[in-house]
Amino acid sequence: MKLSIFGTGYVGLVTGACLADVGHDVICVDINQSKIDSLKQGGIPIYEPGLENVVKTNVAQGNLRFTTSAEEAVQHAEVIFIAVGTPPDEDGSADLQYVMAVGKTIGQLMTNYKVVVNKSTVPVGTADKVTAVIQQALLERNCAAEFDVVSNPEFLKEGAAVADFMRPDRIVIGTSSDFAEGIMREVYAPFNRNHEKIIVMDVRSSELSKYAANCMLATKISFMNEMANIAERVGADIENVRKGIGSDPRIGYHFIYAGCGYGGSCFPKDVQALAQTAKQYGYEPGILDAVEAVNHRQKQKLFELICTHYGVDTAKAGVKDCLKGKVFAVWGLAFKPNTDDMREAPSRVLIEQLWAAGATVQAYDPEAMEETQRIYGSTDKLALTGTKESALKGADALVICTEWKSFKTLNADILAGNMKEMLVFDGRNLFDVARMRDQGVKYYSIGRPALC
Ligand code: UDX
Repeated sequence: MKLSIFGTGYVGLVTGACLADVGHDVICVDINQSKIDSLKQGGIPIYEPGLENVVKTNVAQGNLRFTTSAEEAVQHAEVIFIAVGTPPDEDGSADLQYVMAVGKTIGQLMTNYKVVVNKSTVPVGTADKVTAVIQQALLERNCAAEFDVVSNPEFLKEGAAVADFMRPDRIVIGTSSDFAEGIMREVYAPFNRNHEKIIVMDVRSSELSKYAANCMLATKISFMNEMANIAERVGADIENVRKGIGSDPRIGYHFIYAGCGYGGSCFPKDVQALAQTAKQYGYEPGILDAVEAVNHRQKQKLFELICTHYGVDTAKAGVKDCLKGKVFAVWGLAFKPNTDDMREAPSRVLIEQLWAAGATVQAYDPEAMEETQRIYGSTDKLALTGTKESALKGADALVICTEWKSFKTLNADILAGNMKEMLVFDGRNLFDVARMRDQGVKYYSIGRPALC
C-alpha cells in the first residue's frame, strides 16, 4: 500500500520504517530540511536499537523515502499518518498547532479519497478538529474529494520502539467508517497474523485509550514511589513489598519499580494533558493531579537524601552553596536505559539542584553524552567522562539516576580506589542492601533502609 507519514520524530520515523519493512511503499515527510538531508544519507537522529538497520535496509530496497515536499507525500499516499509533535502548552494541555497545520496542508493538496490517521498522542476530540480543518481547506478550493480521519494511537516504548511496533500487543483503531476500517486492517494485516490484535472502536474512545494507558502506568509508578516513602518511614523495604504485591495477578510485576521518578516524552506530558482535558470538561481529576505531584516530589528525592546525609537543612539555611566544593559522580543521564533521550529526565533535576547547591558534577551515560552536551553546553560545573569509572575520580559521592545494565555490577575496590569515600545514592535500587553493608559502602536507595 502507498503510505505517507508526516513527522520524522520518534513515532513517525519508527512507524515509517516499520511499515516499509513489512512491504508498504512509504514516504516520510518533515519540514526540517537538514533532518531530511541527514536521513537521506542514512543519518538516524535518535538512538533506538535496531532502527538504523531497518531504515537503511528499506531505503536501499526503495520502499522508504524521505522528503520535505508535502505535495509529493499527499499525492503518493492513500493513507496519511500524522505523527508530528504535541508539546505541552503553558497550562500542560497538548499544543495542537503542528497537527492542525498538517491537517490543513492535506486539505490543501489532496485530490482523491484519503484516510488520515492521527498517530500523535492527541486529546479527545482532535480527530473532529482535524476533520474540520481538512473540510475547510477543501471548501476553499472547491474540491469535493472525500476522506476519513481515523485515530490510531501508538503504544511503543522508547528503547524498544522497533520491537514494540513489530510485535504490538494491540492495535487500536478508532473510526466509525467501515471503509476506513477496511483500509486500516489492510495496513496492519502483516502485524496481525497469529492473533487478532486489532481493536476497533469509536474515535473518542480510541483517543482516550492512549491517555488512559499512559496515565495508568504513571499512576502505578507514583503509587509505588508513595509506598517507598512510607516504607522508608515505617522501616519496611519497598523491594520486598514489590514482590509481595506483584505476585497478585490483579496487580502484576510490571511498572511497580520505585525510583527517582518517571521522565520521558510521554508520561509527564500525557498526565498533565489529560488532567487539563478533564478540567476543560468541568471535572477535577484528583488522581491525575496527585500522580503528577508525587512524581514532581520524587524527582527531588536524591537531592533530599544527599542533604540528609550531609546534615544540611535546606528549609532553614536555603539551598544556595549548601554543598559547596563537593563533587558528585552521576551515572545515568537518559530518562531510562537504551535511549539517549533526556526529556524530563530525573538526572536533570538532580544535576541542576546540585549546581544550585554549589557542587560540581562528573557524569557518564552510555548513550546520552552528546545530548547532555547539547542541553548544558560547556560549563566548568559539569565534566562528561568517557567511562563510568572515570566519573568517580575524586568524587565525594556517586549518584545513580538510570538503570543501565552496565551499572548493575558495583566493584567496591573501584569505588574505594577513586572516590573520597564509598558513598552511593541509588535512585534505581540496583543493589542489594546487605551486600553493600558487607562491602562497607555507605548506601542510600529508594524506600529501603539507609546505610549511613
Ligand atoms: C511510555 C509507555 O510505556 C509507552 O507505552 C508509550 O507509548 C509512551 O510512554 P516510554 O516513555 O518510552 O514509554 O518509557 P517507559 O519504559 O514506559 O518508562 C517511563 C518512565 O517510567 C521512565 O522514566 C522509567 O524509568 C520510569 N519507570 C518505569 C519507573 O520509574 N518505574 C517502573 O516500574 C517503570
